[in-house]
Amino acid sequence: MNSPYKSRRAFIKKTIIGSTVLMSYPWLEALANESAISMSAANKVRVGIIGTGSRGQGLLYNLLAIETSHNIEIAAICDNYEPNYQKAIELTHGKAKAFYDYRELLDIKDIDAIVIATPLHQHAHIAIDAMNADKQVFCEKSMARTLADTKRMANTHYETGKILQIGHQRLFDKKYLDAIDYVRSGKIGNVTQIRAYWHRNNDWRRPVPEGKPELERKINWRLYKEYSCGLMTELASHQIQVANWVKDAQAVSVIGVGGINYWKDGREVYDNVALIYSYADGTQFIYDSMTSNRFYGLEEQILGDKGTFELEQNKMYSENPPQPAGILQLVNNIEKNIFEKIPIGGATWIPETALEYKGEYITGDFDVNETGISLEVFVDSVRRGKPTPGLFEQGYHASVWTLLGQQAMETQQKIYLPEELKI
Ligand SMILES: NC(=O)c1ccc[n+]([C@@H]2O[C@H](COP(=O)([O-])OP(=O)(O)OC[C@H]3O[C@@H](n4cnc5c(N)ncnc54)[C@H](O)[C@@H]3O)[C@@H](O)[C@H]2O)c1
Repeated sequence: MNSPYKSRRAFIKKTIIGSTVLMSYPWLEALANESAISMSAANKVRVGIIGTGSRGQGLLYNLLAIETSHNIEIAAICDNYEPNYQKAIELTHGKAKAFYDYRELLDIKDIDAIVIATPLHQHAHIAIDAMNADKQVFCEKSMARTLADTKRMANTHYETGKILQIGHQRLFDKKYLDAIDYVRSGKIGNVTQIRAYWHRNNDWRRPVPEGKPELERKINWRLYKEYSCGLMTELASHQIQVANWVKDAQAVSVIGVGGINYWKDGREVYDNVALIYSYADGTQFIYDSMTSNRFYGLEEQILGDKGTFELEQNKMYSENPPQPAGILQLVNNIEKNIFEKIPIGGATWIPETALEYKGEYITGDFDVNETGISLEVFVDSVRRGKPTPGLFEQGYHASVWTLLGQQAMETQQKIYLPEELKI
């Protein structure tokens, strides 16, 4: 893993300085303007992590990497599953206070910030309790299992003034930031379609310890409706955030279909989904996700009348790429009226077609640790004591439209944003 501290310095230099449209990502402005991190004991940010499973451990690694450089302390951990509870104790060398019940962790007065990486259905009540306990909160995406819970989290965030940063790391990824910059400055022209997909070919199951079938729902919570919306909340939410960000707007409606056509193994969530989100200007965001073919993998394609981005691939393609030498020669020859004399495909002319155009890289910086940077932005905002502008709203709109997409598939209706979900 990169040193997040190093990556952050490079990131600020290469991304923020020189950007023409910082308004597209105001959450970085605060990072850029920030003076040196205060190393005084009084300024130490004390963090508690709730949910130390797969993602929680990843976040913990990232936080441990900046403990010294950013004057933070992993003061407490909490998990109600023994193996992951023990793992977090091991990772923090027994220095952090350890809890099975998150409420006891929230009772610790001098913990400033909470990182939540529990299953989806456990986000809302923990985040709301944390904000009400005067803590700043980083919560993994998606925000919540239900729209009502998502809105309750938003209300608590606004009412308490506490930070509620949602874990969409693409907001801190250099290729996305540069692409957004290019979109805003007109490089690919008028964006009239966005396509995204996330294709896998596996059952998405995690092994359940032998002889403990009662742990199935706890470990494979992603596959059960009570806890998750499967592909939508786990995968699509990231790409819906990107689509809204590209359009600098939320969708206005969504239609979709979903079902289980392959993994008929007792799961309750769809194993394939296909949706169309529409924006006010008529742009369509066409989305699909499946779990029985991985050939096309994962991508977000931004289609403008002057060019195309493939964001995951870090590629951009002009609609009018530089003419290959052979084509130029042919055009010149036609203009000189000697076309008839040129043996097409012969020695004097090398046929090259647009299909061979490989595009260009959006950025040369592949090695940025965006999860690390997102946590650094969180720590910075905790130190400043206030939310980073615009960041919560990105997570909120992504979460809301993720769940509205699920609703569209379940009800087979075109769904619009209900008045009560507007913020
Ligand atoms: N941003 C990303 O790219 C990304 C990637 C993976 C997962 N995630 C998100 O992270 C979250 C966790 O996913 P995961 O894969 O780590 O799941 P996981 O099942 O591996 O870990 C969840 C942990 O939370 C614990 N837990 C459950 N209820 C709890 C409670 N009330 N109190 C304390 N601990 C509790 C579980 O015991 C488990 O250890 C999900 O919201 C997921 O969407 C985000």
